[in-house]
Amino acid sequence: MSEHFMLDGAAVAFAPGQTVMQAAHAAGHYIPHLCWSPELAPHGSCRLCTVSIGGQLAAACTTPAAAGLEVESRSAELTERRRALLQLLFVEGNHFCPACEKSGNCTLQATAYEMGMLAPHFDHFFPDRQVDASHPDVLIDFNRCILCELCVRASRDLDGKDVFAVAGRGLQSHLLVNGASGRLADTAFSASDRAAGICPVGAIVRKRVGFAQPIGHREYDRHRIGDAPGEAAGEAAGEAPRDPTWSTAR
Ligand code: FES
Repeated sequence: MSEHFMLDGAAVAFAPGQTVMQAAHAAGHYIPHLCWSPELAPHGSCRLCTVSIGGQLAAACTTPAAAGLEVESRSAELTERRRALLQLLFVEGNHFCPACEKSGNCTLQATAYEMGMLAPHFDHFFPDRQVDASHPDVLIDFNRCILCELCVRASRDLDGKDVFAVAGRGLQSHLLVNGASGRLADTAFSASDRAAGICPVGAIVRKRVGFAQPIGHREYDRHRIGDAPGEAAGEAAGEAPRDPTWSTAR
């Protein structure tokens, strides 16, 4: 048998160089994540993927897989931690799902449902950031950006354009458009770029198609995020059910 580690009691095989997240994803196990994409190098910034490895907390997306690891990704404590991170993200930006065209296709929203988050808990920041509608096909609402940098990395590493960057520190951190004017229309950005379709929230959206797919028929209206094809396939195939705290309403 190839080398493996244990994830929530199940053996997960891995190839040399893979992270815990990569191996888990390849094996059909869902570990919550926002800033990770199988197409990009890990960023390790959102911490949604925090797991317990031998009793120590670690980011699954940046931790190398190793034989013999005992990884726990589902527990009441981890769910509580993830819910708190999500609540912080929800109040830091303008994430008002009923008014957002990304509702039902939003990874942040779907993950919040998965973690049983029903209220933001903290006080809203109500940021007042610019909206960039300059591009003919794509709109950026900076108020919804969660600074996952998926667009930054996709534009740089997949599109070869380097259209986006994150500037500032702490609460002043913000996404910006590279270019003299700072406007998307004045870059080489295209609606067919990978960076145009990788935003996990409603910060980068295509124009004129916002409600082409009706509410109720969208990706996460049809299935839970952990049950997406290639995500929790193991559970669908008859593995032990999720930790009962996984979707405990709070
Ligand atoms: Fe691992 Fe964001 S997915 S830190």
